[in-house]
Amino acid sequence: MNYKAIFADALHDQLKEHVEENKLIQMIEKPKYEHMGDMAFPCFDLAKIYRQSPQTIANALTSKIEVSDFFEKVEAVSGYVNVFLNKQEVSARVIKEIVANKHHYGDANIGNNGVITIDFSSPNIAKPFSMGHLRSTVIGNSLAHIVAKCGFQPIKINYLGDWGTQFGKLIVAYKLWGDEQKVKENPIKELLKLYVHFHEEAEQNDKLNDQGRHAFKKLEDGDEEALALWKWFREESLKEFSKIYELLGVSFDSNHGEAFYNDKMESVVQLLEEKKLLQDSEGAKVVQINEDVPPCLIKKKDGTTLYATRDLAAAIYRQDNYHFVKSLYVVGSEQSLHFKQLFVVLEKMGYRWHQGLTHVPFGMMLKDGKKMSTRKGKVVLLEQVLQDAINLAKQSIIEKNPTLDAKDEVARQIGTGAVIFHDLKNFRLNDIEFSLEDMLRFEGETGPYVQYTHARATSILKKGNLQESNVQTEISDEEAWGIVTNLMAFPDVVKRAFDANDPSQIAKYLLDLSKAFNKYYGNVRILDDNEQKQARLTLVYSVQIVLNEGLRVLGIEAPDAM
Ligand code: ARG
Repeated sequence: MNYKAIFADALHDQLKEHVEENKLIQMIEKPKYEHMGDMAFPCFDLAKIYRQSPQTIANALTSKIEVSDFFEKVEAVSGYVNVFLNKQEVSARVIKEIVANKHHYGDANIGNNGVITIDFSSPNIAKPFSMGHLRSTVIGNSLAHIVAKCGFQPIKINYLGDWGTQFGKLIVAYKLWGDEQKVKENPIKELLKLYVHFHEEAEQNDKLNDQGRHAFKKLEDGDEEALALWKWFREESLKEFSKIYELLGVSFDSNHGEAFYNDKMESVVQLLEEKKLLQDSEGAKVVQINEDVPPCLIKKKDGTTLYATRDLAAAIYRQDNYHFVKSLYVVGSEQSLHFKQLFVVLEKMGYRWHQGLTHVPFGMMLKDGKKMSTRKGKVVLLEQVLQDAINLAKQSIIEKNPTLDAKDEVARQIGTGAVIFHDLKNFRLNDIEFSLEDMLRFEGETGPYVQYTHARATSILKKGNLQESNVQTEISDEEAWGIVTNLMAFPDVVKRAFDANDPSQIAKYLLDLSKAFNKYYGNVRILDDNEQKQARLTLVYSVQIVLNEGLRVLGIEAPDAM
């Protein structure tokens, strides 16, 4: 039940000629104060169209909107139409809807099962999994849940960075200084060491760079020895990455990385040639974009391909295979130029589906105000970060709830939930300060706070022994309304998160709902035996369902006790 839509519909009956219903929905506001009602429609923009004062318009609209089961009172005040909902009637409807639909509450059928590919995580093999990759993993995974909830079919793609000149360099470095045993024991650390060493040496000796390029050329040409080493580096790296994915509970539909497109690039280059889009530039091949954007480099002087070439081939492959209606790239904002170029080239190639391509950029993770960097061997090992969060969570469980079962599993859920929530509660383009202590607080705007609220609700339900057969949706507590207004906003929040590719809308919503619930919990004796008990428990049940579902959509598990 969407009360905004009902209100907009009533307004639309009066304003048909001038404003579309969708626009009306967007214009409806939430009044600042409770005594001004539950929804407000401002008439200021209409004043110009009708050449009447906002108040005159508000009066006219108000006289036409009927007081109904849902609308208790409609008033015109200072150029607004204010609507007061019938709290009991609306509460009962909302709670009934949640209890009937369970975790499907808030599902939106806008996708018609259309495919949305989501390119996310995408770390580079033989290098540590960076904070940026963690951000991409967490945001992309949540977007996959959000689009699925909106009726699309997400295809989760881990576009591994497993191709490029750097692997030529790595092969050279390994052959010069590598030790098989050491790499096996500690793959990412050892390979990174070799890579860093290569760069140090190359500063004195430029020949090394030539050798690196040459080795990559051999790799692209299918040289067996080079390929075998590359494969090995790739497998070892994937093993390391999968530990992180397992902790986070993230999985993919495809691990086709850049290398997969090695044999699919020639045809793209040919196509560009046929369409007369390729130009020579000092021996290299480029596509011109426009005055504001530098040309897109497609092929180097030595004939090797580039990041952009592989992304072109990947985009075309994905359209051919998945027929996506939308294709998201969850990648840091420092790659904005790359995606701008990529999308323009695909447009110039005449692909109409270029319209569905979207770069979903995000900001940086900072430590003490500075970028957390992996360069110069100064590595932040992500697996260690997650493990630290889990250990801290375990400590606090031991302090707060020493008799809890399955402590390790719950500690993993809380530790990773804290890291994920800390990321997702901020609008993705903002930079975030990394602080384990902040993330793990049980009070304040944290994942554990929402998880704890969910566990509290679950525990009340258990104590109250609420059964499906004795739910009672008619609630008359004054205090319940603060929860109900939050509960009924959920479907709208899901849609907004989808429209803006923005999981933070859901994270912030969960904080509001948790606060409203904890306030209620502080004021109302839910478990007291009286005629309100079943209705109160049913309200708690609705909260539990929505918190659980909201956390799920963020990619966070919700333990029943913690
Ligand atoms: N591997 C790249 C990096 O770490 C990210 C890849 C993003 N996806 C893409 N289709 N380019 O910078």
